[in-house]
Amino acid sequence: MFVSENLNINEKGNLTINGADTTVLAQKYGTPLYVMDEDMIRNNCRTYIKSIEKYYDGRGMVCFASKAFSCKEIYRIMQQENIGIDVVSAGEIYTAYKAGFDMSKAVFHGNNKSAEEVNMALDTGVGRIVADNIYEIEMLDRIAGERKISIPVLLRIKPGVDAHTHSFISTGQIDSKFGFALETGEAFEAVKKVLSCNNLEFRGLHCHIGSSILDTRGFVAAAEIMMTLISKIKDELNYEVKELNLGGGFGIRYVQSDDPLPYDEYMNAVAEVVNKYCAENNINRPFIIIEPGRSIVGSAGITLYTVGGRKTIPDIRTYISVDGGMCDNPRYILYQAEYDAIVANKASEPKSERVTIAGRCCETGDMIGENMPLQHCEPGDIIAVCATGAYNYSMSSNYNRLCKPAVVFVNSGSDRLAVRRQTLDDIISNDI
Ligand code: LLP
Repeated sequence: MFVSENLNINEKGNLTINGADTTVLAQKYGTPLYVMDEDMIRNNCRTYIKSIEKYYDGRGMVCFASKAFSCKEIYRIMQQENIGIDVVSAGEIYTAYKAGFDMSKAVFHGNNKSAEEVNMALDTGVGRIVADNIYEIEMLDRIAGERKISIPVLLRIKPGVDAHTHSFISTGQIDSKFGFALETGEAFEAVKKVLSCNNLEFRGLHCHIGSSILDTRGFVAAAEIMMTLISKIKDELNYEVKELNLGGGFGIRYVQSDDPLPYDEYMNAVAEVVNKYCAENNINRPFIIIEPGRSIVGSAGITLYTVGGRKTIPDIRTYISVDGGMCDNPRYILYQAEYDAIVANKASEPKSERVTIAGRCCETGDMIGENMPLQHCEPGDIIAVCATGAYNYSMSSNYNRLCKPAVVFVNSGSDRLAVRRQTLDDIISNDI
């Protein structure tokens, strides 16, 4: 009935998430509010870890792509679940470090890391850095030389796989700003370059083909292509690649018609390719890293809004205004992303109308969605938008000087604040 299995209806007819009444949460913490189901997050982590144990003898690591959702509490949870992290900026590194995360399990990504960020990564003990381009390789070698250390480096490769997702979020094809292209020989040259650097330890290869992918074909193709490159490196450069990072990108259910696979199918599919390739070509099996982001936190989250005005334009549409919008969820305006919504205090009523949920920002395109089936709602009702746990809080902004919502974690029915709501003083805190 609901897109996420942690949602239910209680005896009062209110929507619950992991047992907690969403109307009570809205009352207690105010709206807009992000609510995250901690148990679901932990279960997703365990599913991924188990899949590496089951299909690849545990010879790998799960790294949560923290760009999907970053705050101190999530890094604490990842630490407890024995999960690594993917970080892409000083901000993510700092947040994780301050949360007490063991940074040796952090992988530093990005296509334009600054020298300051690289030094910060090294100061905090980040375990691996993924180089995106020749300039970065040279910079990493120089910094390692200055610090008289050796930096473990992976190279980001574009495997040439088009992941058939929204073009803004597919990254494995040749025309992408990320990584070294295979087709042009650039990737192989980059490997030679790293091997020739005195201060770099060449660990392995990385690829990430895109995001919101709902089947394993692209991942299988990418794994095959990466194994072919590993084999070429062994044959021609006599170097055995130790690590293969296959990125993230597994999709989730946003609306009923989405049909994601169980998350362990990802590892099942790629491990089969790698195991077979290694056996047939007499290659040592590389340590595999996977980097799921969305699939760990996406379905675990909802956003609660309070309904303001209704506006019906005859024969055209009905707008329902809520107290958030593109500032807390920019995914509709960016990607025309689809969501499912429920009137939380009327969850057992039928969805009797189709509406446009409009945000409160000064931008015509500011919507949570159009033509959305919804229970009839009135001002003061609470709307829950489902599966907002990934790339909502992390992409939120202060557009129109709106305060970012609080984030609450729910654990077996009990709730706690993880990120407090911004205040108006937060909004002006950097203004001189
Ligand atoms: N690894 C790397 C190197 C990545 O760039 C990403 C996502 C991931 C892992 C995790 O991908 P996931 O499992 O979350 O799909 N803002 C967009 C998504 C951008 C994804 C960027 N990279 C959205 O809201 O859909």
